[in-house]
Amino acid sequence: GAAVKIAPSMLSSDFANLASETERMIQFGADWLHMDIMHRHFVPNLTIGAPVIESLRKNTKAYLDCHLMVTNPIDYVEPLSKAGASGFTFHVEVSKENWKEIIQRIKLGGMRPGVALKPQTAIEEVFPMVESENPVELVLVMTVEPGFGGQKFMPEMMDKVRKLRRKFPSLDIEVDGGLGPSTIDMAAAAGANCIVAGSSVFGSADPAQVISELRKSVQE
Ligand code: DX5
Ligand code: ZN
Repeated sequence: GAAVKIAPSMLSSDFANLASETERMIQFGADWLHMDIMHRHFVPNLTIGAPVIESLRKNTKAYLDCHLMVTNPIDYVEPLSKAGASGFTFHVEVSKENWKEIIQRIKLGGMRPGVALKPQTAIEEVFPMVESENPVELVLVMTVEPGFGGQKFMPEMMDKVRKLRRKFPSLDIEVDGGLGPSTIDMAAAAGANCIVAGSSVFGSADPAQVISELRKSVQE
């Protein structure tokens, strides 16, 4: 099966101290750092872009798992590659026409391609991208409406995860939204191996404990 990756979402961190926040998450046992790149045309929020990733990269060697909540992901490929992003996950809803080109450019830029889908999007829509001769290497199943941290996990999304896992035994399947100690078992049982967690990690007095609890639940 696919290796477990615990990815704290830096959206819930203190943005004024991003370098030290990323550093402590790595010390606490995080595998990846999940970076939510949002632009108002796709979600009702605005966060960070390539300049912040570039500054962060000067302070860390960590895997920067970038989740692009933008309407024009292809425009971000080159800037993020130059900035030092590790993973580049774009949304299927905005890449129907050019996903082959996006994947190709992500790989040329030395990043790992992934595709994300919103709660109302059917899982079948990403199958061609996983089955392509130049495939995405990760599928991110949104378990809340994208836009904000701290929302409630949608258990009905686990059908998508189960379908994906049945079809693609070694694929990286990431879940994002509302994950924490009380919801991790549903995600793990369905077959997710990459776990994004924002408010449950940063809202805890003991983030290292939450990270290790998440990891154990997925490994079991
Ligand atoms: C939501 C983002 C998530 C978010 C998760 O649009 O994609 O990564 O930060 O936060 P929690 O874990 O608090 O739901
Ligand atoms: Zn995200």
